[in-house]
Amino acid sequence: MKTLYIAGNWKMNMSPSQAEIFMQELIATMPAAHDRCEVIVCPPYLALSTVAKQIENTRIMLGAQNCHEQEKGAYTGEISAAMLADIGVKYCIVGHSERRRDFQETDTHIAKKIMALLAKNIRPIWCVGETLEERQTGMTFERIRSQVTTTLDCLKGQDCSSLLIAYEPIWAIGTGLAATPEQAEEVHSHIHHTIASYSIDLPILYGGSVTAENAESLLSREAINGALIGGAALSAQSFNTIINTAHSLIN
Ligand code: 13P
Repeated sequence: MKTLYIAGNWKMNMSPSQAEIFMQELIATMPAAHDRCEVIVCPPYLALSTVAKQIENTRIMLGAQNCHEQEKGAYTGEISAAMLADIGVKYCIVGHSERRRDFQETDTHIAKKIMALLAKNIRPIWCVGETLEERQTGMTFERIRSQVTTTLDCLKGQDCSSLLIAYEPIWAIGTGLAATPEQAEEVHSHIHHTIASYSIDLPILYGGSVTAENAESLLSREAINGALIGGAALSAQSFNTIINTAHSLIN
């Protein structure tokens, strides 16, 4: 029976005090826990400690948005997986397309971050996705296969069973133009097929303009194991609606 992962990526939104108010509302209005629905919030680094305390007696899990691959040292401005683990972070997004674009993160660099997270028992939410140009020129499958295999080749010998993959087509992020359930499922199946040759089977989340309105059509697909949500995770009402949708689909 499938588990659904509902993860909110807040990106660079919400100061610690704003996060505190938001979480009060989210917790107060959240549907009762379902043991096959994992709810994850990924605030900016500065708000992690505040949110960690607020979720202590709830079913919500804490996620970060990035980490450095080294454990400590002279890396000004960086945060390590060890530091995240210390404050209760259980998940961490890696390789988001915004970081690939703005910080030139490569597939091999992302593999190092994944290794650092695995060493601290933090589950990586590893993002892959194609550009609009790649989709329009029929390169989607090739692009995704290359991202997945380049990183997995670097992870040979590691236990990768706790990884999650997020398929986030770049053209769907923040545009209001989500992939259709058919488009998403086709790529998810391609990823499932690609990782099967590494003898692994991982949950694959869809991300890119997921809303309270389209969540059901996406989450009801067999190959879609959850959602990584940006804008719609910044409203307690829409995030909770998506959680409710997930619950209704797994009941
Ligand atoms: P939106 O839901 O705002 O399109 O963002 C998706 C995303 O990038 C989540 O990581």
